[in-house]
Amino acid sequence: MTLEFHDVTYTYDGATNALAHVSFSLEPGKALGVVGKTGSGKSTLAQLADGLLMPSSGEVRLDGATSAELRGGMQRRVGLVFQHPELQLFAATLTEDVAFGLHNVGVAQGEIEGRCSEALNLVGLRADEFASRSPFELSGGEQRKAALAGVLALHPEVLVLDEPTAGVDAAGVRDIEVLFKRLLARGTALIIISHSMELVADICSRAIVLDQGRCALAGTPEKVLAPDNVDVLQRLNVDIPQATRFAAKLQGKGFVFEEPVLTMDNLADQLARQLSRPASGTRLSDEEPQA
Ligand SMILES: Nc1ncnc2c1ncn2[C@@H]1O[C@H](COP(=O)(O)OP(=O)(O)OP(=O)(O)O)[C@@H](O)[C@H]1O
Ligand SMILES: [Mg+2]
Repeated sequence: MTLEFHDVTYTYDGATNALAHVSFSLEPGKALGVVGKTGSGKSTLAQLADGLLMPSSGEVRLDGATSAELRGGMQRRVGLVFQHPELQLFAATLTEDVAFGLHNVGVAQGEIEGRCSEALNLVGLRADEFASRSPFELSGGEQRKAALAGVLALHPEVLVLDEPTAGVDAAGVRDIEVLFKRLLARGTALIIISHSMELVADICSRAIVLDQGRCALAGTPEKVLAPDNVDVLQRLNVDIPQATRFAAKLQGKGFVFEEPVLTMDNLADQLARQLSRPASGTRLSDEEPQA
């Protein structure tokens, strides 16, 4: 599977481009991060990726075939998870909710229950406990997972997630990151749309930053978060990882970082090296414990 954008432009009104001349390609088991401020074109890109919108110019191709040729076939292979997907939960039980999409695409009746359980287990809602529960008695984080299960049950080759962690608490974000890593290991490709480079730096091998529909920066998260880009990113309202900002402050105090700092783990490792201490097994204090 390869998903490609070739010089894709999209306009809603025929005058201004919501997306302009965007190109990238995505392989199985890889994640692309798409970041940018409000109105920069992220959701437009998401809908072009699953064939809900057709490019005004340029082409979106899945294994060589254009979205114009594939039409509905594109949406079966590329799953789109809208912003706040839990708002679309509607059925009396989680199984019925997940099964709805499977019925729609014509999955055989005998396969449906197994596919529902598999999807619920995958998102961390154990099927034996959750299958017959109402989506409306779940916590917000559980509802988000249930909505993801509904799309995952369709076995998409590419999953496009529009702001998947918006409104989710820190524990929920960690669960979602674990799920994404599991999906990547199984060969699913991900497009993760976010205001924040923090999530993108943790999960994605490549990132693009959109500004008024155009690609302002592109490359590995390390390249996008290079110190020279920090001013541009701040101007574009992109949340820069805490570790990167802290490293920049330390750099101002004379610390030298040989590699870009994207995560707390990486910051800790590089600081430990500079302070000539082992990264693990460091004792905080040699003092005798007080009685
Ligand atoms: N249905 C529509 N009709 C007309 N213009 C639209 C429509 N949807 C989006 N736009 C415009 O296209 C541009 C890109 O919008 P888009 O929703 O893709 O941005 P976004 O990056 O997803 O923003 P947000 O972070 O707020 O979700 C904006 O200028 C927006 O006003
Ligand atoms: Mg949007």
